[in-house]
This record gives sequence, C-alpha cells and structure tokens, in this order.
Amino acid sequence: MAPVDPHSFTDSTHPFATHISLSLYFNFPSSTIHSSALLTLPSPHSGPISLDARSLAISSVLDPQTLTPLPFSLSPNSDPIKGQNLTITLSNQSSFLITFSTSPSSSALQWLSPPQTFNKTLPFVYTQCQSIHARSVFPCQDTPAARICYSARLNLPRQLSAVMSAAHIDRRPPILGEGLSSCDEALWCAEDRVVEEFAMEQPIPPYLFAFAVGEINYREVGPRTRVYAESVPAVLDAAAKEFAGTEEMIRQGERLFGPYEWGRFDLLVLPPSFPYGGMENPRMVFLTPTVIRGDASGAQVVAHELAHSWTGNLITNKTNEDFWLNEGFTTYAERRIVEVVQGEDRAALNIGIGWRGLNEDMERFHDNMEFTKLKTRQEGVDPDDIYSHVPYEKGFQFLWRIERQICRPAFDEFLKKYIATFKFQSIDTEMFLDFLKANVPGIEKEIDLDVWIHGTGIPPDALEPVSTIYTKIVSLATEFKLGRMPREDEVAEWRGQEWELYLENLPKGIESSQVAALDARYRLSECKDWEVKVAFLQLAISSGCREYFVEVEKTLKEVGRMKYLRPLYTALAQATGNDEAKILAKRVFMEARECYHPIAQGVVETILSKHL
Ligand code: BES
Ligand code: ZN
Repeated sequence: MAPVDPHSFTDSTHPFATHISLSLYFNFPSSTIHSSALLTLPSPHSGPISLDARSLAISSVLDPQTLTPLPFSLSPNSDPIKGQNLTITLSNQSSFLITFSTSPSSSALQWLSPPQTFNKTLPFVYTQCQSIHARSVFPCQDTPAARICYSARLNLPRQLSAVMSAAHIDRRPPILGEGLSSCDEALWCAEDRVVEEFAMEQPIPPYLFAFAVGEINYREVGPRTRVYAESVPAVLDAAAKEFAGTEEMIRQGERLFGPYEWGRFDLLVLPPSFPYGGMENPRMVFLTPTVIRGDASGAQVVAHELAHSWTGNLITNKTNEDFWLNEGFTTYAERRIVEVVQGEDRAALNIGIGWRGLNEDMERFHDNMEFTKLKTRQEGVDPDDIYSHVPYEKGFQFLWRIERQICRPAFDEFLKKYIATFKFQSIDTEMFLDFLKANVPGIEKEIDLDVWIHGTGIPPDALEPVSTIYTKIVSLATEFKLGRMPREDEVAEWRGQEWELYLENLPKGIESSQVAALDARYRLSECKDWEVKVAFLQLAISSGCREYFVEVEKTLKEVGRMKYLRPLYTALAQATGNDEAKILAKRVFMEARECYHPIAQGVVETILSKHL
C-alpha cells in the first residue's frame, strides 16, 4: 500500500484508469442519479485496484466482456474526509463496469427545486467537484495526480438540457431499452426523456469533471464563447453584456502563455447558491451570478478562470499539498491579463486587495502556521476547511518576486517554457523548483526559495503594491480612525473594488456610530456590488451595529457563495459578548441551510462549531 495523495485511497502500485465512460440517469424526484461507469486501464491487470467513493450505493462490478461479477469490497466506515475505499479485484481485465447510484447527500451535487431557481418552473442540478467531491458522483481515483478522459451519456427529462466540461456530441431520444435495467422508470418513461452525449478527449484530473442540468439556454458572445444560463432572457442578456470582452482576454492569454488548448471557452452562469466565484471546468467555466454587476467587473473572475486553462488545467498540482501551483500561478496569470485589458492601476488594485486578504489570513492561521506555507502538509485535513488566500496570494507574491529578479521578458519566456514542458501533467512543488533552478541558474542565491516554499508567514521580500490610487485608498482608510470620512469628490470615481479595498483596510475596532455615519453618507449596506455590501456588513457586525442584522440575514439567504458566507457567519459567531449575533447565526443557518450547496453547508457548520 503506497498512497499517492493524503486525500485519496489511490495506490501507487495500482494502474491509473485512463478513460471512463459514464451513463447517468437523472431522477429528480428522488435527487439521485442511477449510473454505470466503465473504467479502462492502460493494460490488463490482476489484483486489487482501489477507488474513492463517497455516498454511493454500489450495485455491481462486472467484467464488461463476460458480464461475470468481479469481487469488490467497500470499506465499512466512511472516513470523514476521504469517504470510502472501493477495492475491486481484477483477474487480467483491462476494464470493468460498475453500476451504482448517487445519494441525495452526495457532496458534489446540489439539487435545486423549482422555487430555488431563477425561472421557478423546473428543477436544476449541478456539480462542484474540486477539491475531493468527484468521488460522490462516480467511483474514481480522485486525486489530481490522475488524468483521465471521459465520455458521458446523460438521460434527462425532455424539458431540460445539459452542459458539461466536455465537447457536446449529440442530443437524441433514448434508444429503446437504453437506461438501466435496475431502474424501471427508465423504461416506461422513455418518451419523456432525452439523452445528451459528451466527450472529453483531453486527459483531465477528476476534480475538473462537471455538469449542470436544467432549463438552460445561451447567447453567443464570441467566436469560441457562448454564455449559458437558466433560460431567463434578462439573466442571459445581462450575462452576455458582462462577458462581451472574453475573446480579447483569450487572445491575450494565448499571447502570454501559449495556445489555448481546449477548443471552446464557454461560460455557465449558475443560480445564486453556487459556492464559488468561478470554477475553471474545462470548456465550460462555472460562474456565480453575483459577478454580473453591469460594470464589467465580472471580467476579473473570467480572467482568473481563463488563466486556469494554462495553469491548473494544463499543468495540475499533484496533490492539494501543492495547491499553490494551481492558484498562485493562476492569480499571477489573471493579473497579467487584467493588466492588458483593464490597465495597470486596476491590476495594482487587485494586488492590493489580495495583499490585504493575505495579511488577514496570516492572523486567521496564527495558531496553525502550517497553512501559511506554500507547500503544506494535509494529512487528516479537509481541503475545504483550510481554503484561504495563502496559495493564491503568497503564490502570486513568490512568482512576482521571481519576475522582479529576472525582469519581465525573461520571466515571460520562462512561463511559456514551463507551460509547454509540463502541459497535461500533474506536478509537485519540487518539480517546479528543479525546473526553476535549471532554467534560471543561480536563482537560489538571489531568492531564498526555502523560506518562500517551506517558511511560515509572509517573506520579507514580498511586496505591497504601489500605485497612486492604491496608496491613496489605504491612507484614506487609516485616516478614518481620526474621524475623517472620505469626501464625495474623493470617492466620485470609485467603483466596487475601490470601496472593497477601503473597507477592508479600515482599522479594527471602529465605533458603531462611525460605521452608521459612513453608511448614511454612502449607502454601502444597500450597494448592488456584493463585495462592497458584504465587506460593509462584516464591518457592521464586528462593530456591534445591530441595526444591520436584517440586511445580514437577507444577504445570507440570497446567496450561497462561500466568499460571502464565511466572513459573515464568522463575524456573527465571533461577536464577543453579543449573544444576539450568535443566535442570529444559528437561526439563519438553520433556515437557509437547504439552499446552500453541500460544500457550503459543511464549511458553515465548521465555522459555527468552532465558535459557538
Ligand atoms: N478553482 C477555484 C475554486 C475552488 C478552489 C474550488 C478550491 C474548490 C476548491 C477557482 O479558480 C477560484 O479560485 N475561484 C475564485 C475566483 C477569484 C480568485 C477571482 C473564487 O471563487 O472566488
Ligand atoms: Zn482559481
């Protein structure tokens, strides 16, 4: 037994599956998927092979040629982080067929009833597999060290359609008898059903597997980009407008990082419960609707998910312990794209917001400094619980430091070569360092690589950005303590990100009367920009302003993006000596829980159990 990843039962002495062929029958009334998965190995294998599984009911494992059962066992206890080990014993097979069903509590899946959607008439279901949730949709070697191609047939009610992180092949009626013999409904409701076929022919890590099923429509926004969303004209129109600049960003990405290898670059806007800002599912990026603000600021999130097409999806971290290779590189690449399409000031502002976030997370992890490192040890740790700015912003700072050392033209060359060298591979930090040292001789004498990778905290040669606008905002925030509020003429040009930076830089412990005065002047609690509104509400809670509790509750019930849930629930739960805040946190979570994605439910539970 030689584990390859602390978050997986995958064994390095077993072969890696290279292809999976999935048939998925969606049963909306029971929130389950009845499925079969044909896994293919590079060559025939005899002996055990371990797969990850969570909340799956396994019915059978067969030899696909002879249809004879193959012995399998499912570890009886589900590990709270890894789930269950499904071990199948092969005797010279190069493929095997598993039939199984998901459960309504599958951690990757959110099943939305019609009232939870925009159009209110039909149900919706979607996946979020990163970091370790693919195993709750199908059994697999759920580690980013593995790369797998897939094909999928999704059998759905006819009124719905599907999108996937894959090429769309066909939409057709089910073939007679197609479906699963164990599922009667598949046979007698065939005329109400449709099958959508997809194929992903480039090998991807399992966390990039994704689908969404619902009443989905699209608008064209570029030669290789459509924006998909629920079929509500206002949502589709707003999304199409917001993302009109996507093709220009793809071109800039190609100029900076090399060819875009995935064919199409489509976007899917999800219902408000989507737990992230964006998820880089290949060919079909998933986005929260909160980025649609009518001021083109959603472009930053798109730039980030697009950048993953090179850093993350082409070159992937081998395990979550090297997560900074995915997110640090992507944050760097995102800012290079933003710099070209939105200007240097905007990029500096983003660096500044990131710098603030990084400093805050250093405080958050003061009693657990392991998670302030770039390379982390994650045995026994749930990746969802330690999600933070560190891999993003410390990773960004590290790469920016190298750029400053060798100058931009040389760094750009280096990046292109790095991507071309490792594309379609999963690598670890050590492989990156070896490549760096081989291609930038002597770099270890200029930069203390060990401090950057294995050290805790922020290295002394990290850099707070300098730009007129950034510096002005930070100093205005510091002056607030002395009772000086920014004047109308000073904020006249401010957009959401300027306010976000301002609010996040306000000194701790300001009086509730000052917070209320700021809001009376600038109406931040009603701001349409969620980042601003949430930053303000967080400040209001920690300053003890009870009058904003109604707005806090409304916000927590309207969106499920964890970037907003985390700070608001944490502020409520931490409100010392304010029982009202703690009671509110518990009650709102009880009432809103069902509307959150299972991953967000887990994260909020962890926050509340830590503080209450
Ligand atoms: N891949 C991440 C989202 C993610 C990370 C999901 C870890 C599950 C586990 C995505 O690319 C991301 O970073 N999204 C950010 C966007 C932002 C940095 C522009 C988000 O959701 O806020
Ligand atoms: Zn990312």
